[in-house]
Amino acid sequence: MKTRRSEQSLIALVVVAALGVGVAGQTKPAPAAKSLYDRLGGAYSIATVVDDFIERLLVNDTLNANPAIKEARTRVPKAGLKFHVTTLVCEVTGGPCKYTGRTMKDSHAKLNINEVQWDAMVADFRKTLDTFKVPPPEQQELITIVGTTKKDIVQAAKP
Ligand code: HEM
Repeated sequence: MKTRRSEQSLIALVVVAALGVGVAGQTKPAPAAKSLYDRLGGAYSIATVVDDFIERLLVNDTLNANPAIKEARTRVPKAGLKFHVTTLVCEVTGGPCKYTGRTMKDSHAKLNINEVQWDAMVADFRKTLDTFKVPPPEQQELITIVGTTKKDIVQAAKP
C-alpha cells in the first residue's frame, strides 16, 4: 500500500507517542510519585479526618474504661490534641508541617494503654477513614504508619 509522505510522518508520530519515546529517542521519565499527604488532599482533609477521629475516641467506652485515659480526656484541651495529631500526620505523610509535640513514648507513658484499647482505637480510625471514603491503598498506608507507633504506646498486655 502506498502512503503519502505526510501520512508516513503521522504514523511515525503515533508510534513514537505510543511507545513513550521522546524526540531525543529517550524513554520519558516516570511522573514523580505524589506524597501520601497530597493523595489525602492536604492539610484541610487531614485536619477534617483527625477531627472526626478524635471525636470518636473521646466517647469510646473501651478507652474511657481506663481511668488514666478518662482523666486525660477531661484535662487535655481537645483542640490542642487535634492540632498535634494533625501536624504529626501532615509531617509523616510528606507534608510541609513540623510536629512540635512530645514523643509518642513520653505523651502516652502514664496512660497504661493495653492491647484491647489499642484495637478499639484502630477500629475507630477505620470507621473515620471509611466515613471520608479514603481509598483502600491510602487507608493501608495510614494504618501501617499508625502501627509503627504501637511499641511506644502500648504498655500492658490484654487483660
Ligand atoms: C489507644 C491508643 C491511644 C490513646 C488512648 C491515646 C490517648 C492520648 C491522650 C489521652 C493524650 C493526651 C496525653 C496528655 O497530654 O497527658 C494523647 C496525646 C497524643 N497522642 Fe495519643 N493516644 C493513642 C494513640 C495515638 C496514636 C496512634 C497517635 C499517632 C500516631 C497518637 C498521637 C498523639 C499525639 C500527637 C499526642 C499529643 C502529644 C503532646 O501533647 O505533646 N496517639 N493521646
